[in-house]
Amino acid sequence: MAVLFSTRWEKHTKRWLDAIQGALTDVTVFNGADNDVDWAAIEYALVWQPPPGMLHQCSNLKAVFNLGAGVDYVLEHSDLPTDVPLVRRVDPCLTEGMIEYVTHWVLHIHRGFARYRNYQNEPKWRPHWYPRPQDRRVGILGLGALGGAAARQLQSIGFDVAGWSRSSKTIDGVTSFAGDDQLEAFLNRTEILVCLLPLTPATKGIINAKTLAQLPEGAQVINVARGGHVVDEDLIKALDSDHLAGAVLDVFHEEPLPLDHPFWKTPKVTITPHVASLTNPETACAEIAKDITRMEAGKSARYVVDRDVGY
Ligand code: NAP
Ligand code: GLV
Repeated sequence: MAVLFSTRWEKHTKRWLDAIQGALTDVTVFNGADNDVDWAAIEYALVWQPPPGMLHQCSNLKAVFNLGAGVDYVLEHSDLPTDVPLVRRVDPCLTEGMIEYVTHWVLHIHRGFARYRNYQNEPKWRPHWYPRPQDRRVGILGLGALGGAAARQLQSIGFDVAGWSRSSKTIDGVTSFAGDDQLEAFLNRTEILVCLLPLTPATKGIINAKTLAQLPEGAQVINVARGGHVVDEDLIKALDSDHLAGAVLDVFHEEPLPLDHPFWKTPKVTITPHVASLTNPETACAEIAKDITRMEAGKSARYVVDRDVGY
């Protein structure tokens, strides 16, 4: 069997190639960056942001495995044949990393830890009281593989957690809001908003002047989904006017975030370089190998993207 590997993570190519070889037997792995790719031999492609046109050269492709959870880039930029299934990543390590990131920042915001680092600069010894987690309302946009896992973890710590999704959900102790009609009610009760939606035509720009105004004064936003969910100017205005107390942003319209972007100089914005959760080569390849085995046995892969809705 021949597979194609193509990502922009050049630094980690060897680790990925080893992981693919380790997970699959009798496999020839072609690196899309090389000149000797036998395009017609390729049956499965493992990709992250492949160059436009690359997938179209694979005339015998059975499936494309996206090496991340979000498939927005592949859907937007590649000329993927419509009859080839596109499979997104659902992976224990990806979930674990996202739980860590979201829990860290929710706790950081909840306890107001940033102010103590600022006091240290003066220096000043000034303790603050803080509410119990049950009195802090966290809201998660998107209750899928990652949003659902983050919601469960925060609920287990004691936070008052709600989530918003397309279809309503039953998660112990988590209040479910669903559909456009319930978005405003969800936002009205949310003090810490976490975005874990896929980027689709329906969710693009969902964090905008109107929705930010529906959050209570002093709310904070954590965006770990995609930069395209946020209307940047609206977020900056909401921060500058003190309607929002802060924002933690891991993802941006353009990455790396351009050096002249105003977020760099907005004091209430914390920036991380798209690291909320990174795909682990070994666990991802093990999951992909399970799906290839399923497909070779005539079954379909798990987590196939519904292209009509874009996730
Ligand atoms: P997922 O399992 O597909 O879950 C998506 C959730 O969003 C589902 O609950 C879905 O509702 C909901 N949703 C989709 N469209 C909606 C709409 N129009 N209105 C309301 N709810 C909507 O995705 P995931 O695996 O959790 O990943 C989520 C996103 O996280 C990815 O797409 C990616 O962009 C981002 N991500 C970022 C990083 C990072 O490092 N920053 C890492 C991994 C992933 P239903 O349940 O009703 O379908
Ligand atoms: C990362 O952003 C992913 O979609 O997995």
